Amino acid sequence: MSSGKGGVGKSVIAATLALILRRRGHRVGLLDLDLTSPATHLILGVEGLQPEEERGIIPPLAHGLSYMSIVFYAVDEPAPLRGADVSNAIIELMAITRWGELDYLVIDMPPGISDATLDMIRLTKGLSFLVVTTPSRVAFETVRKLLALLRDLEVPVIGVVENMVMKPSSRIRAQVEILGDTYLGSVTFDPRLEEALGDVERLMGTRFAKTLTQVASEAERRIM
Ligand SMILES: Nc1ncnc2c1ncn2[C@@H]1O[C@H](COP(=O)(O)OP(=O)(O)OP(=O)(O)O)[C@@H](O)[C@H]1O
Ligand SMILES: [Mg+2]
Repeated sequence: MSSGKGGVGKSVIAATLALILRRRGHRVGLLDLDLTSPATHLILGVEGLQPEEERGIIPPLAHGLSYMSIVFYAVDEPAPLRGADVSNAIIELMAITRWGELDYLVIDMPPGISDATLDMIRLTKGLSFLVVTTPSRVAFETVRKLLALLRDLEVPVIGVVENMVMKPSSRIRAQVEILGDTYLGSVTFDPRLEEALGDVERLMGTRFAKTLTQVASEAERRIM
């Protein structure tokens, strides 16, 4: 889950998509790689979880998801990691985590085309990107840059999700298709999403989650 842009809904989409895939019977991991502002533990309402250490780290289960987050290791550290420290933290996390057999590993990426993004591209085999935008021209301009970079680096893109849609428009779809990428669908702006965060049953009952379900099917179809 990535976007050139911050605040477009990557974290809520990553967490909810992981839950949707889990409820379809897949073995799913969720990795929160936002080193400066991890959020998926709040969205899933799983504060206080700790991984088990046994020849590496075994991710704890959170609502059926194998869940890893940088918060397990950087609790209450106000200073964001920078430069080489980011790379080292990611390398270490990827190396020591024992995911076991998974069908999907959903990764919530930090905003922007950061060192973390480039490290993950460099270090991870079989990575593909699901890119989140909003209908905003400002958001899409940054997303356009990310899509161009992914194309240059020959990293597979599953497609683009348009989030926080308030009125139907085919503008973003058209722009995505001009770039030769796949438009996976749109997710409505849901004023009830905020109050559902932290409560997975409520979250899965929102209109947000319902419209994301269609996007998930399209993404799964593309991955098969
Ligand atoms: N479809 C939606 N309807 C209503 N609110 C939404 C929707 N999508 C996201 N939000 C809200 O927008 C805010 C930002 O979402 P989120 O934290 O997932 O974005 P992000 O892209 O991960 O941000 P960051 O770049 O900071 O990591 C959250 O409060 C979330 O609840
Ligand atoms: Mg986020």
